[in-house]
Amino acid sequence: MLEIRNLSKTYNNKVIALKNVSLTVNKGEFAMVLGLSGAGKSTLIRSINGLISVEAGSIEFEGVSVSNKENINKIRKDIGIIFQQFNIIKRLTVLENVLCGRLAYSNTIMSSLKLFKKKDINWALDCIERVGLKEKAYVRSDQLSGGQQQRVGIARALAQQPKLILADEPVASLDPYSAEEILELLTEINKKEGITMLMSLHNVMLAKKYGNRILGIKNGILVFDKQVIGLTEKEMQLIYTMDTSLIKEKQQAV
Ligand SMILES: Nc1ncnc2c1ncn2[C@@H]1O[C@H](COP(=O)(O)OP(=O)(O)O)[C@@H](O)[C@H]1O
Ligand SMILES: [Mg+2]
Repeated sequence: MLEIRNLSKTYNNKVIALKNVSLTVNKGEFAMVLGLSGAGKSTLIRSINGLISVEAGSIEFEGVSVSNKENINKIRKDIGIIFQQFNIIKRLTVLENVLCGRLAYSNTIMSSLKLFKKKDINWALDCIERVGLKEKAYVRSDQLSGGQQQRVGIARALAQQPKLILADEPVASLDPYSAEEILELLTEINKKEGITMLMSLHNVMLAKKYGNRILGIKNGILVFDKQVIGLTEKEMQLIYTMDTSLIKEKQQAV
């Protein structure tokens, strides 16, 4: 489904963010990208839907090249993305935010006038129900908790009927309980609806609990790529060196 070949990215001609990264994501997978802060996780995730331009190497989604600008609208329709900071518009209602996910399907004038078709509204309401926010559809988004705001982000991604959902540290701003609720919701969407997930995280336990594959990045290099089932003790030790939360705990203990 997703083919990344020899992807490299250097910022400002000096910071090497990704170095020769190659990987394939298959349909239905829930792949977790683990790495310390600055490892290159966001650069990798954002390159996939063209938020960051590909410098060297190639990314193909279902055989279509991401680096070709002509394809970007089609690719962005098929690939939803959710972010650490939710990136929702706080003064808009939940429904209005989720309708933004339908923009790719409406013509521009219709969208700017907020004259969405009944069909789009019903579809957005259905997505809101799928993330468990039915009662909040007409509430302003700034009235919601962090976990609820991330649910809006997920509903907005679902509204575009994606084949793949990218998630860049989607639970890093949430308390541990809400974080697991969000990961459970994404797991359910992955299992029941068959939507492929590629997510960055910095917590090994969560990656192992919810993902079925772990990709480890260190200094822009893909150093680890294994299925969760069958991970050995030695491999676990290796991936623990990519867990930021453990490093923080260690620092606190000193
Ligand atoms: N827009 C940018 N300009 C310059 N350097 C950047 C930019 N974005 C990220 N970087 C650098 O690229 C490296 C990888 O960053 P990033 O992909 O954000 O890592 P992660 O998401 O794993 O924390 C880091 O050294 C970071 O400082
Ligand atoms: Mg990041």
